[in-house]
This record gives sequence, structure tokens and C-alpha cells, in this order.
Amino acid sequence: MQIAGKTALITGASRGIGRAIAVEFARQGAKQILLWARNREALNAVAEEIRAIGSQATPIVCDLLHIEQVSIAVAQAWRDYGPIDILVNCAGIAHQQWFCHAHPRKLQEEVGVNFLGLLTVTRLLARRMMKQRQGLIVNVSSLMGKLAAPTMATYSATKFAIVGLTQALRAELEPYNIKVLALLPSLTDTDMVKSQRHFRWVQSHRAEEVARALVRGIERETPEILVGWQAQLADLLHRLLPQMAEQLVRFAAPNCPAPQTEVLN
Ligand SMILES: NC(=O)c1ccc[n+]([C@@H]2O[C@H](COP(=O)([O-])OP(=O)(O)OC[C@H]3O[C@@H](n4cnc5c(N)ncnc54)[C@H](OP(=O)(O)O)[C@@H]3O)[C@@H](O)[C@H]2O)c1
Repeated sequence: MQIAGKTALITGASRGIGRAIAVEFARQGAKQILLWARNREALNAVAEEIRAIGSQATPIVCDLLHIEQVSIAVAQAWRDYGPIDILVNCAGIAHQQWFCHAHPRKLQEEVGVNFLGLLTVTRLLARRMMKQRQGLIVNVSSLMGKLAAPTMATYSATKFAIVGLTQALRAELEPYNIKVLALLPSLTDTDMVKSQRHFRWVQSHRAEEVARALVRGIERETPEILVGWQAQLADLLHRLLPQMAEQLVRFAAPNCPAPQTEVLN
């Protein structure tokens, strides 16, 4: 699908990878970009940047954890700016911690934003796209949606879920001429990873590189878009020698001290 002339809705567009995708879509000639996140000020700044490139931009301030608000925001966006041709589900959060030490609220928040929020937006927009008999849905997963890692159990689980959802929807929505792709970035230099302990030997990418990889992937209709040679290699190794890949991930995992059982509550 061509991005030029299209209307796109991008969640997580206030910063990081979502912001970079919005700017890249404007460079590709998108007509209208709907920018979704919670931080109004940050969204306004991205909208200004996009208008300066030549596309129309509209902020949508909405928390993905509030499902009723999400339904209203999608309905209003379609009514005021639709039809929406492209949905990019990019919003996400990551809490790096040992699973058994994580507060249940943190686990629910990760699942709520990364997966339940994505499910809700996707379902509401896919139903409308089906009536148009055209559309593109990009779900942002992660290399951790292929290779799970210690300290990232819940995050990895949400990203695996996104890969599964994407695969199933690709088949379900094909008769309606709706393409469904997954973007699987690896380590990218954004706010998300600033406070995290990084995995050894992993090369960091810039958000702009990820956005350009997405545009290439959309042009080629690549079902799962991996970013960078390390991700390609890790994915190949995992498919050919899964146990070896798992051992390597354990070895590369950050040297967090294993928590003591006496502090478990
Ligand atoms: N950075 C990496 O290394 C990396 C690697 C692989 C995959 N990814 C994936 O790429 C996506 C973008 O990550 P990033 O690195 O760009 O992270 P980021 O810089 O922290 O940006 C996260 C975005 O999600 C939005 N967001 C968070 N909680 C939200 C909520 N409750 N409701 C609505 N919007 C919410 C944030 O906006 P507000 O705070 O304004 O709401 C922000 O725009 C995520 O899905 C992430 O899992 C990232």
C-alpha cells in the first residue's frame, strides 16, 4: 500500500518510535495523521512538526487503559476524519522486573496498554475498514515477541500475543482487502529503555531507522518486519536452533541479581 494521500491513525505518537513513524509517514505524503497518546503538549509538538512537512495532523488525547474512552475516541476520529486507511498500534510500556516480584498492578498495566488497548482499537477500526473493503493495520510487537527474555516476562508475553493476533487477523481480514503486518523492533533508543538494564551485545537503533524499516516493509508487504541484522540473525537462530537461541538470550540478559525469596510478599 502507498502511504501518500492516506489517512493514518498512530497510537503512541507523542514520542519515540510512534513519533518517528508519524514524521516518516508525513515525509511519504500522508494526507492526514491522527496522533494518539496521553500527553497533549507532546502531541501538539509532533502535530506542528508534521504540518511543517505538509500533512494535516490531529492530536487525540486518550488513555488506552480506559476502554470506554477509547471507543468514543475511535468513533469520533472516524466520524470527523475518516475513512482511516492505516492503523499503527505503537503505544506500549515495559516494566523490567522479575516476574514474581512485580506488583500485580504493574502486570495489569503492561497487559492493559500493550495488548487489551491494542485489541480494542484494532477491533473498532477493523470493523469500519471491513465496510470500506480496504485498509492496513500495523501492530508493533518486538524481537521479544519471538524470543522471550528474563526480567521481561509480561512484556514478552504481550508481544508474543501481538504476533499471534497479527497472524490470525491477516487471514481473517484478507477477504476484505485489509493487510495486517507486525513490526518487530529490537533495542531502540527511546524513553522506554532509558531506565532499563540493557542486554549484552545488542546494537541500539534510532527510532527514525525503525520508521524507515516500517515504510520499506509496508511497500514490500512483509508480514513480520524485523529491524537490523542482529534481529534477523536472532530470529533465524531461534527457528533453526531454539534451545541454543534461548541459552544465548539468558547469557546476554542483564546482570540483575536474582531476588531473594525472603523479600517476596
Ligand atoms: N524502544 C525499544 O527498544 C523497543 C523495542 C521493541 C519494541 N518496542 C515497542 O515500540 C513501541 C513504542 O515504544 P517506544 O520505545 O517508542 O516507547 P516510548 O518512547 O516510551 O513511547 C511510548 C508511547 O506510548 C504511549 N503510551 C504509553 N502508555 C499509554 C497509554 N496508557 N495510553 C496511550 N498511550 C500510551 C506514550 O505516550 P504518552 O506517555 O504521551 O501517553 C508514547 O507515545 C512499543 O510498543 C514498544 O513495546 C520498543
